[in-house]
Amino acid sequence: MIMTTQFLRNVWYVAAWAKDLDRGSLISRTVVGEPLAIFRNELGSVGALEDRCGHRGVPFTVGGTCRGDVIQCPYHGFEYAASGECMRIPGQDHIPAAAAIRSYPVVEQDLLIWVWMGDPALADRRQIPSHPYHTDPAWKWTWNELTIKVEWRLLIDNLFDLSHLGFVHRSTIGGDDSDSHMNAGIATRREGDRVYMTRNLTNSVPSPFYAAMTDWSGTIDRWQEVDFVPGLLHIYSGAVDAGEGGTEGSIRSGGVQFHHMHAVTPVDEGTTRYFFSLARSFRLEDDALTQKMDRILRATLDEDVVILEAQQLRYAADPARALLNSRGDAAGVLSRRMVSDLHDAEQKAAAVLA
Ligand code: FES
Ligand SMILES: [Fe+2]
Repeated sequence: MIMTTQFLRNVWYVAAWAKDLDRGSLISRTVVGEPLAIFRNELGSVGALEDRCGHRGVPFTVGGTCRGDVIQCPYHGFEYAASGECMRIPGQDHIPAAAAIRSYPVVEQDLLIWVWMGDPALADRRQIPSHPYHTDPAWKWTWNELTIKVEWRLLIDNLFDLSHLGFVHRSTIGGDDSDSHMNAGIATRREGDRVYMTRNLTNSVPSPFYAAMTDWSGTIDRWQEVDFVPGLLHIYSGAVDAGEGGTEGSIRSGGVQFHHMHAVTPVDEGTTRYFFSLARSFRLEDDALTQKMDRILRATLDEDVVILEAQQLRYAADPARALLNSRGDAAGVLSRRMVSDLHDAEQKAAAVLA
């Protein structure tokens, strides 16, 4: 099999929603091909260890337990600290250094659990993309998490080429206004290790999603602003009545505004874990609206999954075959180039250390 996927390791990846990690629990996650046991010990701290006991290789996540500040293997009871150091071998006083296993830097931030898969010496928590919308009372949000049978870069392509909204998401967030989607004004740029894209739609028929969110007097002007760093893609989007300045980038106080978080965590060559949230800044107390937003969000993601998993089957059958780029792929192409540059840099750094 041709290995075409470029996994970046020096990246903070979202491994889980913090709410899914109760005190004293451990969960199994695979990130960039490596199985992890992610846990919150009984004292409340989070950690991540390779999910393979240093004794006979059994994964901790098949019945292991958190005991105080250590996790215990379910097979013969070896106990490990969050550092990976083996702290206890039942029935034996001597603990050989070889019993230690790999641990990974982990941070809990913005209601998410982030893990660093690269060189621990380079893990800087200040580089974790900030996502204040989960804790800012000025925003109301809903969320989802999916495991999709697709290579992670195809999902990034999907999130940048938003012309697909006019086709895949006709009945949800796109609307039946393919012309305005196809003629959208697009600007892209790369700044260091980030790729930005803005996409403006003028005089657009409100999509079913926008129609469900508020009343409009007619057509609308929509904007989408995308900010990508490896591991996470933010989209800031919204709309105002047509002609009220929604495409000017300055009058953004009217209409509706949303913030989307797309955390894209590679699992393996053909699988991606996708953490998503959608926040709105209006009618915060309207629970029926929140439920409607959640319903449309889930339907939208389901629409993407059908396309992406079918695409992956064709892609994996012949990964060396080139993909064609169109106007809508401009930011996706920039992001692939950036990922490739970062991958080359990681490989070079690893070769120097080897
Ligand atoms: S395999 Fe873990 S204690 Fe034996
Ligand atoms: Fe989509």
